Amino acid sequence: MDHQRSIIVLDFGGQYAHLIARRVRQCGVYSEIKDADTSAQELKNAAGIILSGGPQSVYDPKSPQGDPALFELGIPVLGICYGLQWMAKTLGGEVSQGEVKEYGKAKLHIGNRNLGIGSGLPKEMIVWMSHGDEVTLLPEGFERIGTSNNCSNAFIADIDRNFTAVQFHPEVVHTEHGQTLIENFVKTCDAAEWSIESYKDHIGEALKKEVGDRKVFMLVSGGVDSTVAFVLLNQVLGEDRVQGLYIDTGMMRKDETIQIKKAFDALGITNLRIEDASAYFLKKLAEVYEPEDKRWIIGDAFLSVQKRVSEEMNLKMEDGWMLGQGTIYPDTIETGETKNADTIKTHHNRIDAIQQMMKEGLVVEPLRELYKDEVRALGEELGLPHDLVWRHPFPGPGLGVRILCAQEPSRVSCPKSVLRHIAYAALPIKSVGVQGDGRSYRHAIALFSDEQFADEKCWELATSIPNASEDFNRVLMCTSHSTPPEFVFSPGYVSKERTEILRQADAIVHNEMGVAGLYESIWQFPVVLLPFGTSEGGLSIVLRPVESQEAMTANAVDLPKDVVAVMTQRLLALEGVDVVFQDLTHKPPGTIEWE
Ligand code: XMP
Repeated sequence: MDHQRSIIVLDFGGQYAHLIARRVRQCGVYSEIKDADTSAQELKNAAGIILSGGPQSVYDPKSPQGDPALFELGIPVLGICYGLQWMAKTLGGEVSQGEVKEYGKAKLHIGNRNLGIGSGLPKEMIVWMSHGDEVTLLPEGFERIGTSNNCSNAFIADIDRNFTAVQFHPEVVHTEHGQTLIENFVKTCDAAEWSIESYKDHIGEALKKEVGDRKVFMLVSGGVDSTVAFVLLNQVLGEDRVQGLYIDTGMMRKDETIQIKKAFDALGITNLRIEDASAYFLKKLAEVYEPEDKRWIIGDAFLSVQKRVSEEMNLKMEDGWMLGQGTIYPDTIETGETKNADTIKTHHNRIDAIQQMMKEGLVVEPLRELYKDEVRALGEELGLPHDLVWRHPFPGPGLGVRILCAQEPSRVSCPKSVLRHIAYAALPIKSVGVQGDGRSYRHAIALFSDEQFADEKCWELATSIPNASEDFNRVLMCTSHSTPPEFVFSPGYVSKERTEILRQADAIVHNEMGVAGLYESIWQFPVVLLPFGTSEGGLSIVLRPVESQEAMTANAVDLPKDVVAVMTQRLLALEGVDVVFQDLTHKPPGTIEWE
């Protein structure tokens, strides 16, 4: 979709490029992310340009470089961290390795608060830094606006040309007044107003244009994204040009299919077909063990069922039927669609066959530019009930990516615990993580203790172990045992039996979360099944509650002890469940789902 006079974030590989775009959108201006080397020609209609941070040094020959001609466009530019350094170097300044690296909190002293985007800021504020290099010589026309203890050019600007740059990260919540700073920058740009309400009209027009006189066949999972996309399509194109299909994969939550049917009935939506394909999906997954293989097979199975049903219903491509999907903006990034991003996981709606259809213009994704909370705002705007809009996200491949599969245990040596009251056990399985902006596939380590005061230490270890080790990307706390038991491995794949155990475990956890009044404060609460226990055929359960905004980063949630105790007790009472853990890993280094 063409957004005129928007603010473009050029992605130099930083983790927070998404946060920057979100913060700009919060100011009521459309913002999108583009690759660092986007040409100035392509940027000429932007209202403003923001250069993101990035992990490299500008002097590294492989570091991402922008098009220097963007500084000739007469458009306001804001550089952040690496963006500041690239701006300074490109415009004739100098960057060198700082004497001291700065990570985390720093105090910023602002000398000239009347200038540029510094206006309205206090004399001193806490900012969040993450850098080794710094600007040592300012380019011509620039002046210093603020300094921190370890960085003299922490905030600089060329007022005449409207170029501003900060070494710290105004987009993260830990930076005080960060949003004011971004708002100040946005005000200097001649940007068009944007909001979800205006987006609804805009998207409606664009959808009509994109679909033309064709019709849309849409896979609906019952999750927030596909539901909002489906209702939007219905409202914009009319029910007779839209057909929904809900596929019961056999890997859904307990009573999910019944609930979805009820919710759509209540909305008066009649063009949704419900198809039980559980036997087909489970057959396809028999003896499949690799996480990415599982994702591709599930994606393909969705497509085959959709094809079969469309044939049965006589909805042919040649008669103008196209495929609709509820893909949102962060999904496209994590599948590695932008140049500088690594593939962390292949989302079920980004498999090859679909990518091919996309190239042929046969796929419509009305939400592909939106973040989750914007999708929710749009859902409310469309009149969807609150409970449906605020459901926790649930992945397309469902419980399938929460059942860890293996033929044999994967062994790794366990580091020695240096704390007397905390024991370690290296678990015989691996899970996916995201480290240094790339995919990792490493072991999980479990901590055991019966001492209350060990708690804080365990949370520290959840960060320090993956930072220090090449072997581990996930740290768990065992909630059922205080010392490591002898683990017995149970080879297995996504079978009906294992899915049923996980379905029951998931229902217990969700029930207890509701009873404890935690549903609203937890963003998502996956429950994962591991292929080992303490008895022959026994299994383990992992609790994975997280708090997040965009799912790009997430914090593991420290659940109240009594809630964990009740969940653990109820889970251990399930046939086949021997051990319960809680996942303490943030994202990064862990991902939210294990596969
Ligand atoms: P990760 O595990 O990558 O997950 O931290 C981020 C968010 O994405 C969800 N997720 C998916 N959603 N199809 C989806 O629609 C998928 O294939 C998929 N894989 C992960 C995950 O539940 C979390 O909210």
